[in-house]
Amino acid sequence: MNCCVVGLQWGDEGKGKVVDILARDSDVVVRYGGGANAGHTVIVGDERFALHIMPSGAVRAGTVCVIANGVVVDPEILIGEIQGLAKRNISLEGRLFISENAHAVLDYHKLEDRLREESLGSNKLGTTARGIGPCYADKVGRSFAVRMADFRDMDMLKGKIEEIVAYKNKIFAALYDAEPVDAGAIFEKCRLHGEQLAGYICNTTRYLHEAIQADKNVLFEGAQGALLDLDHGTFPFVTSSNASALGMSPGCGVPARMVDKFIGLVKAYSTRVGSGPFPTEQDNEIGNTIREKGHEYGTTTGRPRRCGWFDAVAVGYTAKIGGIDEIAMMHLDTLAGMEQLKICRAYKIDNTETDFFPCDAARLSRAECVYETVEGWQEDLSGIERYEDLPASTRSYVGLIEDIVKVPVTILGVGPKRSQAIFRTTR
Ligand code: IMP
Repeated sequence: MNCCVVGLQWGDEGKGKVVDILARDSDVVVRYGGGANAGHTVIVGDERFALHIMPSGAVRAGTVCVIANGVVVDPEILIGEIQGLAKRNISLEGRLFISENAHAVLDYHKLEDRLREESLGSNKLGTTARGIGPCYADKVGRSFAVRMADFRDMDMLKGKIEEIVAYKNKIFAALYDAEPVDAGAIFEKCRLHGEQLAGYICNTTRYLHEAIQADKNVLFEGAQGALLDLDHGTFPFVTSSNASALGMSPGCGVPARMVDKFIGLVKAYSTRVGSGPFPTEQDNEIGNTIREKGHEYGTTTGRPRRCGWFDAVAVGYTAKIGGIDEIAMMHLDTLAGMEQLKICRAYKIDNTETDFFPCDAARLSRAECVYETVEGWQEDLSGIERYEDLPASTRSYVGLIEDIVKVPVTILGVGPKRSQAIFRTTR
């Protein structure tokens, strides 16, 4: 069984936990997009692992981890994760494969990200400052890009970095009046990183096809969420990769028809970090309560997340474009204690009601939500193990979302631990 797990909202839906649970039955876990802008938290026993580039399957000894071509790899952060896991006696030796076609995020990308954001003032995108946009821009631009394959040929890489840095320095000086970047220092880091990573770099497309041919179970792990998809999200307030399920095939070279099941992840409410329209946002006591109860602070940047009601228009759309078969709904426990809950089932934009999500940020920012109001629940859900034991109001809440989104909810998260997940096979 090959399975793909993607976020259906604005990221941070709890993919780390679900991927980690599903990795139990997987031989291979693949990251196919994004970079160190992602932050996946996995809790095993009393240990907490915050991973940014490494597939969440890394914490399970024996699971092969693939960082495929669609990922932008920050070598420094990746090496930090390999070493951090090694300190906890988790070795990646022989089970980590990094695509030679993946692009490298270098220091000048992070600088460019920061300088551009600062120059935008109140129009900034609110990026994670991890150099993601500039690295993907260099990939698309082709002439000034560094791929992981280049880390195997230091003479060639040295010349390439000198050329790229000379070009970047002209831009930094002209546009931002910034100090020049030192090509020698950047190359020296690459040399050290190359020594540590060279053994992991290979043709991951070939590896994946051979694994599928050999009937291995492969789990494809999305990063961010579909509403941050460069083409199908709330542009320009998106990330620079195809963060929806549609990014899987180009991101790893495996056609979607080889995937048996697409699982979409949502929280029982909505969150967003960074700028951009967020129709169901509750910038009030309700939002504050969700943030504190759900610990809604970014894994990567520590920023408080914006919180709001569940948006079934947005999730219905991302489930549709992603061909989602089943939904995993996280953080149901967080909503306990609220008198009433709201689910957005349509938008009113310029006096017209619509149930189809408009990506255009300007149009979306004019959307007024049409809500269904339902009864909340007071019970603590964190110890519940069977769907039938959930309070009736929790089951109605989930049922109403299924009716609007038209996809069954089969996994329900009732706490942060691996064990706090309810699996449901029938509705
Ligand atoms: P970038 O990906 O750093 O360029 O940031 C672009 C937008 O995507 C910003 O609004 C970020 O906050 C958001 N973003 C990027 N990665 C994540 C993530 O893993 N979770 C949630 N939001 C993210």
